[in-house]
Amino acid sequence: MARITAATGAAHSRILGLGAYRPVRVVPNADVVDAIDSSDEWIQQRSGIKTRRWAGPEESVQMMSVEASRIALERAGLDARQIDCVVVATVSHLLQTPAVATAIAHELGTDQAAAFDISAACSGFCHGISLASDFVRAGSARYVLVIGVERLTDILDLTDRGTAFIFADGAGAAVVGPSDTPGIGPVVWGSDGEQFDLIRQREDWRDVVGSPEVPGSGVMPHLVMQGNPVFRWASFAMAKVGQQALDRAGITLDELDVFVPHQANMRIIDAMARSMKLPSTVRIARDIADQGNTSAASIPLALDRMMAEGEAKSGDTALLIAFGAGLSYAAQVVTVP
Ligand code: UT7
Repeated sequence: MARITAATGAAHSRILGLGAYRPVRVVPNADVVDAIDSSDEWIQQRSGIKTRRWAGPEESVQMMSVEASRIALERAGLDARQIDCVVVATVSHLLQTPAVATAIAHELGTDQAAAFDISAACSGFCHGISLASDFVRAGSARYVLVIGVERLTDILDLTDRGTAFIFADGAGAAVVGPSDTPGIGPVVWGSDGEQFDLIRQREDWRDVVGSPEVPGSGVMPHLVMQGNPVFRWASFAMAKVGQQALDRAGITLDELDVFVPHQANMRIIDAMARSMKLPSTVRIARDIADQGNTSAASIPLALDRMMAEGEAKSGDTALLIAFGAGLSYAAQVVTVP
């Protein structure tokens, strides 16, 4: 039998550069409360959100991704043509096909790169980092660009009390490449499809369009969420996942510098930090207060801010935990680029 040459890659991987794009428009709670019969006080108390960023007409999924990626590439000291693979985590690229990743790769100038989208909602960025790390170590790619991007305002019903005040827009990008030492720990990931309906596109596209026999709704199938069960699941189950990611990476709580959970709700962030008994020396990402919940973009946006504000520095050890629709989750320990 013919013997196929096995692929071989780098001994280790790490994040080499991170970039972010935040939409220009800042939207205070006062601008969303009337349509949902809410108040600034309720939103701040229940979610910790004071303002969020909503994209303008020019700030498309592609545009925000390209801006964040250019920064990540520059910080990694790489040219776009060196990227072998582009992985885009998003649920708000509104063409079923093709993937937005190919258009992003093209605009960046890396037409030879493999490029595809993944759908893992708010946990998409950590899924992408895991894939990228494995590609680099297996030899499928030397440099991988991972993008988490959302323009959730396109799929939000601004009169829906359960979602309108939480979700927001933005993009984050990371370049993953070879490393002499381990810079991305083993992933702890999973899903719970029994809770498939808790966060979802309200209806199938076919129900919107309809058929000759049954007329469609003709209404955009917005994102809907049963917030409270998701809140309870995230607050309790995700702390265990975080501890498992630390254990699998061989990192103790005392060695941890930075905690970057998905920015879903400030109360979930606090509950996870308490359950995990994080020492007071661990710096915690709290980007949600003025960025809102940007789903797949939230972790790179939050880490980028911590780096910009000096709360995280290159070489620090960070725990990332992402969770959301599916339900799905993914967590890993990384070295800050
Ligand atoms: O990113 C993907 C993962 N997503 C998440 O992790 C989100 C998780 N969920 C949450 O963050 C929270 O569940 C929310 C912030 C969405 C809601 O907070 P909650 O503490 O779970 O509120 P609730 O749904 O249990 O509602 C509490 C009360 C209810 O009134 P009663 O029955 O106590 O009288 C609601 O009717 O608040 C009322 N309420 C509102 N009041 C003002 C619900 N939505 C609103 C609103 N404004 N927007």
